[in-house]
Amino acid sequence: MSVASKMKLPFLTVVENDFGAVNQLILESLSSHVPLVEEISNYLIEAGGKRLRPILVLLSAKACGYQQTQHISLAAIIEFLHTAMLLHDDVVDASDLRRGRKTVNAAWGNPASVLVGDFLHSRAFEMMVEIGDMKVMQILSHATNTIAEGEVQQLTNIRNPHITEADYLQVISRKTAMLFEAASHSGAVLAHGTLEQQTALQAYGLHLGRAFQLVDDVLDYKGTADDMGKNIGDDLAEGKATLPLIVAMRDGEPDQADFVRQAILNGGVENLDRIAQIVEAAGGLKYTSELAVRETTAAIESLASLPDSPYKTAMLNLAEFSISRNH
Ligand code: IPE
Ligand code: IPE
Ligand code: MG
Ligand code: MG
Ligand code: MG
Repeated sequence: MSVASKMKLPFLTVVENDFGAVNQLILESLSSHVPLVEEISNYLIEAGGKRLRPILVLLSAKACGYQQTQHISLAAIIEFLHTAMLLHDDVVDASDLRRGRKTVNAAWGNPASVLVGDFLHSRAFEMMVEIGDMKVMQILSHATNTIAEGEVQQLTNIRNPHITEADYLQVISRKTAMLFEAASHSGAVLAHGTLEQQTALQAYGLHLGRAFQLVDDVLDYKGTADDMGKNIGDDLAEGKATLPLIVAMRDGEPDQADFVRQAILNGGVENLDRIAQIVEAAGGLKYTSELAVRETTAAIESLASLPDSPYKTAMLNLAEFSISRNH
């Protein structure tokens, strides 16, 4: 059973049966001729995860009146793309903990994590071809390409204390919001929603995804490994100037701002507690959380033109969850 169904997230109830079918399809689609591929994919997938992106596909398709069954595959595809990114991301970020378990790179090594990531990525594309909707394929191939650019862009920003809020927003729009946007947009396109509905749902996903990453970046200073299922401080360890740090360097007392600059230049988590205090004192967490609230509000407003339905209500709840979560 996935973490999402264990948590009984309120927005899940309206698509609970479809969600069960997605989880079933995910497990069935992992079969491989090479046992290690299955072992590793199952290891990470069975650990759960919130499954927000596949839920978004289901809600979006249903909100546009979809009555067929291909949204189940589309949701599984999106979760595979997400999981593939995580396998690569944990190598890039040298992370040890994911979904409450050792990361695949920590347990099997970097090569296995990268290669199984490639397997999941390409399985997703095989399944996409089976759906056979060119517009959906366009959205998903563009999304994966943009995410890769965002991750590389972030890599080039590492250990650079001069990163601005605008640079940061561009990175999170590409590396994270793009997949949320693709999830809600492709669900609407698959369902042949009106152009107005497709555009509304696309905008909803973009804003929700930005809010989601803003909160993730706050939780990297303020969360706990127990709640998150991943270690906090991973961003600082890599010398990543996320918004809480950018604000501390911009608005903090000069000596505090200097301390943060040095931490970004050097990387490492030795000064995590002190940095977390500075970031709090300089208003970095507050500023980032407030921006997350504004993005969530924009997500909610994007849905204004959508006809009322239990699916729309669930999407409004999902937006609220993305800022109130601690995991
Ligand atoms: C983690 O995403 C990657 C980010 C964009 C921050 P999630 O927090 O949705 O990860 P799982 O799937 O629930 O583990
Ligand atoms: C999410 O960013 C990156 C992806 C697009 C996979 P993070 O690197 O902050 O994600 P976590 O914190 O490791 O889940
Ligand atoms: Mg990471
Ligand atoms: Mg990362
Ligand atoms: Mg993070």
